[in-house]
Amino acid sequence: MNDIFEKVLETREFLIERTGTTGQELALILGTGLGDLADRIDTLAEIPYEDIPHFCASTVEGHKGRLIFGTFAGKRVVAMQGRFHYYEGYKLDQVTFPVRVFRALGAKFLVVNSAAGGLNPSFNPGDIMIVTDHINFIGSNPLTGLKDPRLGDRFPEMSRVYDSEGILESSNAVLEIGTPLRKGVYVAVSGPSLETPAETRLLRMLGADAVGMSSVPEVITAVQVGFRVLFLAVITNVNDPDKMLPVSLSEVITTAKLAGPLLLRILETALKRIQL
Ligand code: HPA
Repeated sequence: MNDIFEKVLETREFLIERTGTTGQELALILGTGLGDLADRIDTLAEIPYEDIPHFCASTVEGHKGRLIFGTFAGKRVVAMQGRFHYYEGYKLDQVTFPVRVFRALGAKFLVVNSAAGGLNPSFNPGDIMIVTDHINFIGSNPLTGLKDPRLGDRFPEMSRVYDSEGILESSNAVLEIGTPLRKGVYVAVSGPSLETPAETRLLRMLGADAVGMSSVPEVITAVQVGFRVLFLAVITNVNDPDKMLPVSLSEVITTAKLAGPLLLRILETALKRIQL
């Protein structure tokens, strides 16, 4: 993608004109099976991705493909119902383009969620894992080749990617709700093939608690542009390298959908207490 900075400004202008709003505080990226969360947004405007300049189309089952403007947990929000993935064939600078637009709209806090495979044997399908750190194992980086200083620091610092208040308030929400508290490291792989038993063993050895095919590129870009980030992953299946079971996409979507209301409760409770 060339001239990213100019494209961000162009998309920002388009969205402001089309929605008649500005000053979003919160940005939300809703992953596989989690698009129903958008129903809880008090909606002002909805725009299909195909209408938005420089946005990709969402090609995946379980992803609706529209941008929603409104209010969520008392905050002015812009939400992606469906996201873009590397495995769809997009470049990572295309996948992460919306994050730059959200920052340009004024958002300072990014919430990312996604379905993930559990690697930690104590996890169960339907658990919500609060991501405390990540491993980028995609084999590419969204900032590769970007030299324009207007986009942010070329070598962003990654020692504290996930917002401490976000982790604390979502942990408090989990404990109050009385559901198991799961925290851990998310490893992003390129997909779209699922992991073999040997790959699953390797990812466990790397220190990862969950694996997925998204989110980390958006988070890296979010750090570059100065977002505070909260990432909640829904564990849709648990992979044991010694008795590996096939993972089906329909199961992933069904489990993510079932966990949606819990994720929503955690998010709403946490966000109401976080000062943006
Ligand atoms: N592996 C990778 N991505 C996933 C998985 C998995 O097992 N489950 C949901 N997303």
